Amino acid sequence: MDFTSFAKPSNVDGNNENNSTDLHFWKHVEYIENHGKDQDDYEYCMTEFLRMSGIYWGVTALDIMNQLDRLDRTSIIDFIRRCQCPVTGGFAPCEGHDPHILYTLSAIQILCIYDALNEIDCEAVVRYVSGLQQFDGSFFGDKWGEVDTRFSFCAVAILTLLGRMEGTINVDRAIKFVMSCCNQTDGGFGSKPGAESHAGLIYCCVGFLSLTQSLHLLDVDKLGWWLCERQLTSGGLNGRPEKLPDVCYSWWVLSSLTIMGRLHWISAEKLKQFILTCQDSETGGFADRTGNMPDIFHTLFGIGALSILGFEGLKAINPTLCMPQYVIDRLGIKPQILSKP
Ligand code: FPP
Ligand code: ZN
Repeated sequence: MDFTSFAKPSNVDGNNENNSTDLHFWKHVEYIENHGKDQDDYEYCMTEFLRMSGIYWGVTALDIMNQLDRLDRTSIIDFIRRCQCPVTGGFAPCEGHDPHILYTLSAIQILCIYDALNEIDCEAVVRYVSGLQQFDGSFFGDKWGEVDTRFSFCAVAILTLLGRMEGTINVDRAIKFVMSCCNQTDGGFGSKPGAESHAGLIYCCVGFLSLTQSLHLLDVDKLGWWLCERQLTSGGLNGRPEKLPDVCYSWWVLSSLTIMGRLHWISAEKLKQFILTCQDSETGGFADRTGNMPDIFHTLFGIGALSILGFEGLKAINPTLCMPQYVIDRLGIKPQILSKP
């Protein structure tokens, strides 16, 4: 599709704003664009500790909607530069905070989208990430030593985006650690060995295996079955048995199923309808579930899931890296993906 001549598709808000099958496209654009403009806003102040990821969620969602030029590229890149720790090379969520691998990934993702990796010290980032790997192959999130499969994903995602996977970390041990977090009963993954399977962490581990070209280690049928059982009668997906549906799990589950070539195992139409009921038709933005307050996190994952489902008027998103596919192509990155059986 040629996005330079973007035409408003038929299922995007038009005359019938209240039709639940419509995407309130321009309301969402406005919501994301205005997010963070009022720096005295209570919610904005309370989310300072995750600001870098907040910017990544907004930048990615707007790019998927072909509206990236609504944000000020220069001030975002300046902000990122100010957040790189001169000692460790990692990125903090905002100035005055400590660096962490989560915000380091968000910073690198934003810079890749803006084609601006040259603006920061990439070698210092590589040193930061490789310094967080432990002897058993796991990764600390930061200097405090928490271990989690999310951090294994972040490490390989950062190094892949920087083109520095080779010779920087012990990939075999990293794979061994992630596979030690796989639960034999359901084929899923938790945050550490023996921890309960959780769709968010399954995304991290399947994404990790996709980036390390190791998807053959998965029991795709067992895990695919557990993932498609996450779809409830509302059409929405939950993250674990007995939990309520939540828009962000549309992303964690759909991306994993897509990487595993099993997207067709859920009802796309019912999920699309569920996601659309979670839009706020007045303010724009998506909430975790129908009727709740929207936020920027669920807005990205709502838009991202609709993109995976091929929603008209949205750019393609890469299921492994949760970034626009054209950016991944520009970087020449090819995360592994299984074909439909
Ligand atoms: C649910 O969290 C989601 C996860 C645990 C996965 C988080 C993934 C990352 C941080 C990796 C980077 C992500 C991207 C998209 C590049 P939750 O705290 O909402 O879980 P809950 O629903 O159980 O509360
Ligand atoms: Zn959620």
